[in-house]
Amino acid sequence: MSIRSLGYLGIGTPDPDGWVAYANDVIGTMPVGPAGSGRERLLRLDEHPYRFSVDPADTGGVTRIGWEVGDERGLRQMTQRLSEHGVEVHEGSAEEHADRQVDRMVWFDGPCAVRTEMFIGRRLAPSPFVSPLGVTFVTADQGMGHVVLKSPNALEAVAFYRDVMGFRLSDVTHLPMGGTFYFMGCNPRHHSIAFVESRKREGTHHILCEVSDMDAVGQAHDRARRHKVPLMATLGRHSNDRMFSFYMRSPAGFGIEVGAEGQRVDDATWVSRVYTGDIWGHHAVAEGDDAYAGTEGTTR
Ligand SMILES: [Fe+2]
Repeated sequence: MSIRSLGYLGIGTPDPDGWVAYANDVIGTMPVGPAGSGRERLLRLDEHPYRFSVDPADTGGVTRIGWEVGDERGLRQMTQRLSEHGVEVHEGSAEEHADRQVDRMVWFDGPCAVRTEMFIGRRLAPSPFVSPLGVTFVTADQGMGHVVLKSPNALEAVAFYRDVMGFRLSDVTHLPMGGTFYFMGCNPRHHSIAFVESRKREGTHHILCEVSDMDAVGQAHDRARRHKVPLMATLGRHSNDRMFSFYMRSPAGFGIEVGAEGQRVDDATWVSRVYTGDIWGHHAVAEGDDAYAGTEGTTR
């Protein structure tokens, strides 16, 4: 498989500074530079130069997905496959390469109206990652986490990621009153991207940040409470990726899932299944809330 992992995400929001403060104070990200340096909106989770880039936008959501490809040959194969499927692939500019800190990047208009980038040769940060809150994120071969997108044409997005991008469909979850989620992976992380059918417009459902252990999830839960961040779904454990997690609403509107203990997938033995609920928890906090609601068929 040419795509190795989820490398970075662009976050669009009407209030970039508010989102950055939330990420640093509640999630535990590390800003690349101090306020006013022009680099305070680039946020680290590990040795990568940054994982989140926060930019002004009219509405909140993921604007850009960056997939890390193994090498030049893999990037060439991906570009060719996209072209064969009629996708127009553009070369990144010198300015964009410098911004992403990569040797080379190509991009195209991806599903759910998200600019989709593939890159090789990323520079790693010269300084060690130190979370100001002492958080350790689970990344490495599993990438930075996962992103879940809403779409009125979720099945088209699933087919594109399976047939063109080369992802596996890890499994599907039908929630009695909460919609259908399609989970897709490209490495041992159970899913790096997922799609959920939405009657409304396209958008971002949530992003996962995986932390070292259950206590780190609980400490993030405490910080959310202290900073009066609204919860979207209670603590719980997913049946498919076994993630112990909760969901909170980020200032850009979409959710952030903080979790731990997600199971790793071995492609040699994996069987794709269909789930209808979670092991426990993940109850939507408010009526009509846009959360992943697990066991009681509450709303999505
Ligand atoms: Fe998730």
